[in-house]
Amino acid sequence: MAEHIYLDNAATTPILPEVLDAIRICYEESFANPSAIHTAGAKARHEISKARATIAHAINADPEEIFFTSGGTESDNLAIQGVWFLSDKASRKKICHSAIEHHAVLDTCMFLAKHGAEVQSLPVGPDGKVLIGEALERIDNQTLLVSVMHSNNETGVIQPTEEIGATCKKHVALFHVDAVQSFGKIPLDVEKIQCDLLSISAHKIYGPKGVGCLYIREGTPISPILHGGGQEKGIRSGTLNTQGIVGFGKAVEIAINDFAAENERLTSLRDRLVRRALSEIEDVALCGDAKDRLPNNVQLLFKGLEGETLVLELDRLGVFASSGSACSSESKDVSHVLQAMGVPREWARGALRLTLGRRTSFSDVDRTVDSLVRIARNIRKLYKN
Ligand SMILES: Cc1ncc(COP(=O)(O)O)c(C=O)c1O
Repeated sequence: MAEHIYLDNAATTPILPEVLDAIRICYEESFANPSAIHTAGAKARHEISKARATIAHAINADPEEIFFTSGGTESDNLAIQGVWFLSDKASRKKICHSAIEHHAVLDTCMFLAKHGAEVQSLPVGPDGKVLIGEALERIDNQTLLVSVMHSNNETGVIQPTEEIGATCKKHVALFHVDAVQSFGKIPLDVEKIQCDLLSISAHKIYGPKGVGCLYIREGTPISPILHGGGQEKGIRSGTLNTQGIVGFGKAVEIAINDFAAENERLTSLRDRLVRRALSEIEDVALCGDAKDRLPNNVQLLFKGLEGETLVLELDRLGVFASSGSACSSESKDVSHVLQAMGVPREWARGALRLTLGRRTSFSDVDRTVDSLVRIARNIRKLYKN
């Protein structure tokens, strides 16, 4: 039996052996509570500060601006709720988010709408990018916060965050960027983006699950959403997850070291997959902008087919893929991202997301396309009969 091919790296990535080693050593040697004043506590604190510095350096931030959380979902919640709770609602209560945000952002904004926030959705074009003209018109002096992701988790399309950041600055609105999918794959610089808050998650870059961080620009008015022991300068209470944080730091170190080579390798794999799929399969399209996309993301749309059927058929052949975002794939309907892009239903229902990773090889790509050619042909033949 041929080896499995894992093409669901946007959902999560396998932990790297070096990361696992760092975590094991940390469990053995730095297990003490990092808040403790004894030497063992200081050792754990030291490990955490090394990871904090590595992560800060990777996004051109100061280590003091990194706040550890349990992952992307918590970071998004802390950014949006934290800003809202401390804001002066009399002068600013508008929160803008793009129509294609992850549910961690969308549902948090919906929650705040029930508490008086004026929530507005920024539309996207058929290429999957926020319509910059519309966004710039809606962001004004009444805007408290804008939340736009760096790249989308379904399409992989990179968003115009630098333009949005500049507009936020002009109107003194705070800017939050969910960089969970971009971090470690493409360059990220909080100064270039001019963002005040930026969410990151470790498990998307070969680190452990259940750990991430929120970058909070110095001076950003934000209230905690978890109350307790006052860790992380009172912004995020709870005993720090030393092992997770150390694993996160190691994963970032590796991502940064291999950045250019891995980016180039993934881009050529991605382009080969797209080229072969578009030329060898009938009625298939690449979803979203072909150029401004993550190096590891290929979302294909199969006209008239069901994404879930494609995922299950691929699974039978040992290829693991996704029909959309892992977090929403239980919903039977067309994803909110494809709806916002105006993708016709007969194409949107046939969405298949293939996300490549460190372990993906050229022969994996070829085996996947060969499988898809056969699967699409067989299902379409069945539909005709
Ligand atoms: C864009 C984006 N934001 C947030 C999250 C949530 O991150 P986590 O799984 O670390 O909570 C995800 C996870 O898929 C994501 O893709």
